[in-house]
Amino acid sequence: MKNIFAKKDINLLIKEADENEVDDEKSLKRTLGATNLIALGIGAIIGAGLFVRTAAAAANNAGPSVTIGFIIAAVGCAFAGLCYAEFASMIPIAGSAYTYSYATMGEIVAWIIGWDLVLEYALGAATVGIAWSEYLNKLLEYLGLHIPYGLCHSPFETSVYGVQGIINLPAFFIVSLLSVLLIRGTKESAWVNGIIVITKVAIVVLFIVFGWSFINPVNHAVYIPEPTKYTDAQGVIHNYGGVMGILGAAGVVFFAFIGFDAVSTAAQESKNPKRDMPIGILGSLVICTILYILFAHVLTGVASVDDFRNQGKEASIAYAINSYMHGYGWLAKLVTVAILAGFSSVILVMLMGQSRVFYSMSRDGLIPPIFSEVHKKYRTPYKSNLIFLIFVGFFAAFVPGDIVGDMTSIGTLFAFVIVCAGVLILRKTNPEIKRQFKTPLVPLVPILGIIVCTAMIYGLGWPNWARLLVWLIIGFTIYFSYSIKNSKVTKK
Ligand code: ALA
Repeated sequence: MKNIFAKKDINLLIKEADENEVDDEKSLKRTLGATNLIALGIGAIIGAGLFVRTAAAAANNAGPSVTIGFIIAAVGCAFAGLCYAEFASMIPIAGSAYTYSYATMGEIVAWIIGWDLVLEYALGAATVGIAWSEYLNKLLEYLGLHIPYGLCHSPFETSVYGVQGIINLPAFFIVSLLSVLLIRGTKESAWVNGIIVITKVAIVVLFIVFGWSFINPVNHAVYIPEPTKYTDAQGVIHNYGGVMGILGAAGVVFFAFIGFDAVSTAAQESKNPKRDMPIGILGSLVICTILYILFAHVLTGVASVDDFRNQGKEASIAYAINSYMHGYGWLAKLVTVAILAGFSSVILVMLMGQSRVFYSMSRDGLIPPIFSEVHKKYRTPYKSNLIFLIFVGFFAAFVPGDIVGDMTSIGTLFAFVIVCAGVLILRKTNPEIKRQFKTPLVPLVPILGIIVCTAMIYGLGWPNWARLLVWLIIGFTIYFSYSIKNSKVTKK
């Protein structure tokens, strides 16, 4: 009988990482420093969560109190981020929460996490791809062009005029394009990413600064709406207002923070992971949190909840500027272009995170070797990138953004809960391991991390719990029929 709780020896993990450095043929290149990592983090963090999900959360869940949702999400991320940073500084190799849990809680937990991270990275990439499609439409509108509704929406969506969606072609296109860019190598991607990050932060700041004077106090008059139910255009019922509304909004906009942990998946490509990982993770988180709260405050002040439920449902930032910030048409155009570029960098990092996690899982024998075959010239896991091109492209093309977005949130929150628990466990089981960065106030911080993230999972509601459960059941089926037999750790 195989031991499903077999643990991967941390010293072995570190040795493997060192060997990888020598073993040029198979390994990934070490090219990233602390600044690159913060840039990578912000590149992954600011995206559809802010520019699309904020308006959705205001419309469906919390109105202006979506800002409180942002605060809750940020608090949850900060606690989980501190736990991530301890792991990342201790286990400086590729694989994210997956690798960490393999060393701490055993194979089955690692499998659950690795499998769950597909929701975070792959579906996250699909969500941002769908959001990219919305802003592409906006850009084409400025140019007097137009993609028919059916060709840029999933079959589960219907326009206000009753037109049925068929396939989201732009979303599929951007996912494919970036997968190909990724195959060409991390270094070029990180360089492009740097420019995009600067642009992205700039437009967020511009919107806050210029939008501030257009805040209409009427829109903020009822900051926390009374608890009620709201049924959206697709017939989905949401808890709107009150505490449940805020928790729901927190779960939705939590999406906007996803990505800081993607930094940890680049540990193997970082020059000095022990020092730079915590800086990259926490640095990018702090910068984004401040920007988000201000941004959401301005957005819900400029346009109303009604706008976000109807005309301003898609490409909401451009809509708010065009409709209420007269004289700032140029900003709407700039924002649209920058968002298109910005979303691309998010998709890129998500796809990279995904292929790196599967790279580690494949090298451990839990999934087939095809996912760790590295391209001879580019030294990237290109076959894995191609497989995910199809997988992510499918979701981007055929599933609505709200659904993939919330699945991404719930999957990531679940992973965070396990990571927080991991810190608690590892402090007890392996106190001797050197930690370059230590989570402060253990056990308080991990416990609070677990509580806040679980509250957000609760806020996301039963359809999302059910989807997570189905995904985990599929994962268990694969684990017990393939992974358990091929695991390299239990073979030894
Ligand atoms: N945090 C990323 C975004 O908002 C995933 O798009």
